Amino acid sequence: MQKININKTQSYTFAENLVLLVDKETDFSEINLTVSEINFVKKEFGKKSDQVFINRFSNWIIIQTYDRTRKAYQIKETLRKAGHSICQHFQKQKAEKVVIVDCISNDEYSLSLAEGLALSNYQFIKYLKNAEEKTSTIGEIAVVSSGLKDTEVQKLLALVEAVYAARDLVNEPASVLTSVKLAEAFQSLGKEAGFDVKVLDKEKIASLKMGGILSVNQGSTQPPTFSVMEWKPADAKNSRPIVLVGKGVVYDTGGYSLKPTPDSMDYMKCDMAGAAAVAGVLYTLAKTKASVHVIGLVPSTDNRVSADAYAPGDIITISDGTSVEVMNTDAEGRLILADALVYAKQFKPELLIDIATLTGAAHRAIGTQGVVGMGNTSDEVVARIIEAGNDTYERVAVFPFWEEYAELLKSDIADLKNIGGELAGAITAGKFLEYFTNYPYFHLDIAGMAFMKKSDNYRGTGATGIGVRLLYNFLNNFHK
Ligand code: BES
Ligand code: ZN
Ligand code: ZN
Repeated sequence: MQKININKTQSYTFAENLVLLVDKETDFSEINLTVSEINFVKKEFGKKSDQVFINRFSNWIIIQTYDRTRKAYQIKETLRKAGHSICQHFQKQKAEKVVIVDCISNDEYSLSLAEGLALSNYQFIKYLKNAEEKTSTIGEIAVVSSGLKDTEVQKLLALVEAVYAARDLVNEPASVLTSVKLAEAFQSLGKEAGFDVKVLDKEKIASLKMGGILSVNQGSTQPPTFSVMEWKPADAKNSRPIVLVGKGVVYDTGGYSLKPTPDSMDYMKCDMAGAAAVAGVLYTLAKTKASVHVIGLVPSTDNRVSADAYAPGDIITISDGTSVEVMNTDAEGRLILADALVYAKQFKPELLIDIATLTGAAHRAIGTQGVVGMGNTSDEVVARIIEAGNDTYERVAVFPFWEEYAELLKSDIADLKNIGGELAGAITAGKFLEYFTNYPYFHLDIAGMAFMKKSDNYRGTGATGIGVRLLYNFLNNFHK
């Protein structure tokens, strides 16, 4: 895994690469800048620029400010984005270390700058001949801030590492990252961070009669896996676990309902982004020793075409005995997730959240600006999810989840069919999943945000690691 170091410090000099976070009240005479530099900064700020670059030839000093009239979560996002442009600048300069100096006594804002910088420094270049040459030189971000706690810095570092790990998994092609390899990757993350990982193999999956997973896997030369991850600290504040379920389709051709290549199948290695997010969350919880008991479940397979592959018209049976008429083999995510939702019942979850690249409909509905969410949990839980979404800027747009949508999934010859028709595709997918639950349930459809074809700021190009920051933030605050 690519490494970045983020630490707290008190010592720095004006001969280093600095980012000074200031606002209107900052007394520039207390900062070690020349009079002409101060005048230059003030002139630039007057032109509505929030970021001023001072070239000291052997180093750079960047003065960063922000619009104080905006809400705190919006300011944090502006600062993450500022961190992105700072990262690009220092990558070009081949800088090795960047020091962020908090001149406004706001450790949270300073960490947002560091977060944007660190997330932007991620690269997936291992397949390039000139990878070494292209590797970012930035290896250290130091933060100088009076109120900053070590634990907050460690939290950010763990989160950044988890996002990197999730992105690595999503960016890795399915020719390398099979379901078995995905489960092995979870085991090594578990070992590194200190959470438990148990992997059910094909035999065990068959003995549990997980017909959703087995049917989708029928066209594959690779066996499926079902990973059970757990973080259970002695001081957990919840008596019943919160269960996370991540869609782990390592590659989705659509099966016999084959996907077209451009803008569709060509990036379907991202179809396990939900699974990667779940592992990333467990990693962060364990690394930060969060006081919450969480179980992560990942059903995993690829979805391919072969003489043996399942086909439209097949009737399959999920592990709880529910029969499903498969009208479209490309609606495979819900079939493997159904088995996981049934498996989760034994834990009597306080709450279950699934995260999945589930529908193109979710992508089309809100684009790449957020995550589509829906569920039957209390208004308070929904409010907490929205809050975590805003705070991390992995925003959640809550869709209706009215019971009438479930009627679209009726079949004449089976208990359910796996598609609902033309309309409200993201919601009928959610309703299909809800059928297999008997606990408070919330569904996150990340199809729009899992993978960026064009660079999207600190989210980068390719895998974004969406969901890691959102769910960690939610879980870490849930019982406070
Ligand atoms: N993996 C896809 C959804 C997807 C779309 C993920 C875009 C990432 C970006 C999923 O398995 C799928 O193909 N869903 C179908 C469902 C349909 C057949 C009801 C879809 O959205 O077209
Ligand atoms: Zn599909
Ligand atoms: Zn899929």
